[in-house]
Amino acid sequence: MGSRVVRDLLARADVGPVVALARRPQVLPEVERLAVRHADYDDPASLRAAFAGLRALVFVSSDGSADPMRRHHEHVVAAAVDAGVEHVVYTSIVDVASDSPFYFAPVHRETEAMLAGSGLGHTLARTSIFADFFVSTWIAPALVDGTLRVPAGGGRMSLLDRDDAARALAAAAVGRRPGVVELTGPAALTAAEIGRITEAATGRGLRYIALDDEAYRRRLAADRTPDWLIEAFSSMFTSVREGRFEIVSADARSLTGQPPRPFAEFIRIAGL
Ligand SMILES: NC(=O)c1ccc[n+]([C@@H]2O[C@H](COP(=O)([O-])OP(=O)(O)OC[C@H]3O[C@@H](n4cnc5c(N)ncnc54)[C@H](OP(=O)(O)O)[C@@H]3O)[C@@H](O)[C@H]2O)c1
Repeated sequence: MGSRVVRDLLARADVGPVVALARRPQVLPEVERLAVRHADYDDPASLRAAFAGLRALVFVSSDGSADPMRRHHEHVVAAAVDAGVEHVVYTSIVDVASDSPFYFAPVHRETEAMLAGSGLGHTLARTSIFADFFVSTWIAPALVDGTLRVPAGGGRMSLLDRDDAARALAAAAVGRRPGVVELTGPAALTAAEIGRITEAATGRGLRYIALDDEAYRRRLAADRTPDWLIEAFSSMFTSVREGRFEIVSADARSLTGQPPRPFAEFIRIAGL
């Protein structure tokens, strides 16, 4: 996500110098108008140095189990305050409700609250499920035997093309958009509809079989999935069944001026 945002910032005529933050700056290509600085979410001093002089920061949420992720986010917000960053655009999630079962809801909610209490200007960019993440994690493996076995029930998902998300994050940073924006795809689809759209786009069979939560957890455990990831995937589908990922918002379009890409088009060019 970070590299896509950098690409989109560099493509804009209304943006001056851009700084890419990376753990291994040496692997980034040399590009005009782009500076590269070392930054590690686990190393507060590196963040303070990396953020020096930045006016806007696109803060891509960390990943993995919740406790390290929480620590990373505390480091980023504290360093942004220390460095006097004017505006932070944070990648949150649409499912942040306090009664959400989703594994990642509390850490996003806490990070949103941290930003709100920090005095930093901020955009809380709540994203839906990324289409490429859904495809690589569930659809591509499912195409091997033609059955999509997930516990999504009849819940709908507003799958979002990550390129649309990146463009919207860049626009929010440039425009210093305050408050919450919801970044979603243009339609909310059930798993059965996703299967049918994938069949039409790829010419390969994909039938949705609705698992229950226990059966899905057993499948993940049999594949030696780490406990936190079993919880993350399984609770995401609980949220999907409860309609927590079905929101469709016009915010991506209003930020970028472009309609977000429909899933049917995304999957047609995904090369599956
Ligand atoms: N909404 C959704 O459906 C969804 C799905 C998946 C993820 N996400 C969220 O979106 C975020 C971005 O996802 P992504 O797919 O772009 O991730 P990704 O492709 O796995 O890239 C992660 C990047 O983070 C860097 N990184 C890892 N640990 C770091 C640390 N301690 N300090 C600084 N940089 C570090 C990695 O750098 P190196 O090259 O040094 O390893 C890598 O460039 C995730 O972190 C997660 O919060 C959302």
